[in-house]
Amino acid sequence: MSTSQGFYRSRIAGTGSYLPEKVLTNKDLEKLVETNDEWIRERTGIVHRHIVAEGEYTSDIALKASHMALEQAHKKASDIDMILFATVSPDQVMPNTACVLQEKLGARDCMAVDISAACTGFVYAMTIADQFIKTGMYKTILVVGAEVLHKYVDYTDRDTCILFGDGGGAAVVTRATDDQDSYVYSSHCHADGSIGDLFVLPAGGSKMPFTQQVLDEKSQYVRMKGREIFKHAVRTMSQCCDEALKANNITPDDVAWVIPHQANVRIIEAVAKHFGIPMDKVVVEIEDMGNTSAATVIVAMDKAIKDGRIQRGQNILLTAFGAGITSGSLLLRY
Ligand SMILES: CC(C)(COP(=O)(O)OP(=O)(O)OC[C@H]1O[C@@H](n2cnc3c(N)ncnc32)[C@H](O)[C@@H]1OP(=O)(O)O)[C@@H](O)C(=O)NCCC(=O)NCCS
Repeated sequence: MSTSQGFYRSRIAGTGSYLPEKVLTNKDLEKLVETNDEWIRERTGIVHRHIVAEGEYTSDIALKASHMALEQAHKKASDIDMILFATVSPDQVMPNTACVLQEKLGARDCMAVDISAACTGFVYAMTIADQFIKTGMYKTILVVGAEVLHKYVDYTDRDTCILFGDGGGAAVVTRATDDQDSYVYSSHCHADGSIGDLFVLPAGGSKMPFTQQVLDEKSQYVRMKGREIFKHAVRTMSQCCDEALKANNITPDDVAWVIPHQANVRIIEAVAKHFGIPMDKVVVEIEDMGNTSAATVIVAMDKAIKDGRIQRGQNILLTAFGAGITSGSLLLRY
């Protein structure tokens, strides 16, 4: 559908998701660090996370999710004009995982790039996809959020190891036709590098290449100030959602489902309370997957589509925050 500005509109034509078969339960973690199932459930809402098998990589998770998304969208890999791959746990630094996925999918020559915005990655990538569709440059874009986070977690650090898991999802974003009541309204993305030290993975970049000292000091693992992140997560996601609703003159009552980043169920509840949105209108899938960073929003969305909670024609509000600190929201009519 062309808008009054003469642009096109983008829509999600298909989604897919995949969580690896192997499961790491709270009980398993009790054997590794001083923690317990009750504490983890009460403080985070997480019961178990999925972990990749030996030889299974971020691109493999993405491949499975992408096949499902393409099938639902009735598209072939050869239809893809661009691959946007949101991840902070790529197969390797170079080549990017979007190119690895292009090869595995058998997609044709197209633009293929990774988006590094931590847990906001999928919302950022959707925002970029929306712009490329709006201008008319591309018609079919594969947007992926996939992670293998367990390899960046220190399983002697109870503050972080209970939170993260592996998984991924994909969305096929296409140009909406005039007869389709399905489109992205708008997106609202932010970053605040001044508080970037709250959540870091120090080693592996040019600032701190891998050395024996890095390994001895465990700088290859994530470090986090959990309590402070909690506050900023609630604040930033609430602000981004406010912006999305205001920009489109939509009230919380007009929203059928909110799909927030799945980091902690208490963060999700606080954001819902901010809007006065009841929790039965919020998609919560954290119990089964923990925090899978760029993957959480699209995995939660795909699950809710597949089990019938999300229906075509509903207003859906996506929101996320992550290391950076990045944050964003995207309001769409599914
Ligand atoms: C990490 C997080 C779950 C901790 O929950 P919390 O309610 O803030 O807990 P606190 O850090 O205040 O710790 C409370 C107590 O539990 C203890 N504790 C911490 N981790 C624990 C664990 N895994 N098991 C048992 N006890 C634990 C703490 O040591 C502390 O003990 P103390 O009171 O004796 O000092 C929570 O802050 C959080 O989810 N933050 C956001 C993290 C996040 O989303 N990161 C990713 C960003 S995308």
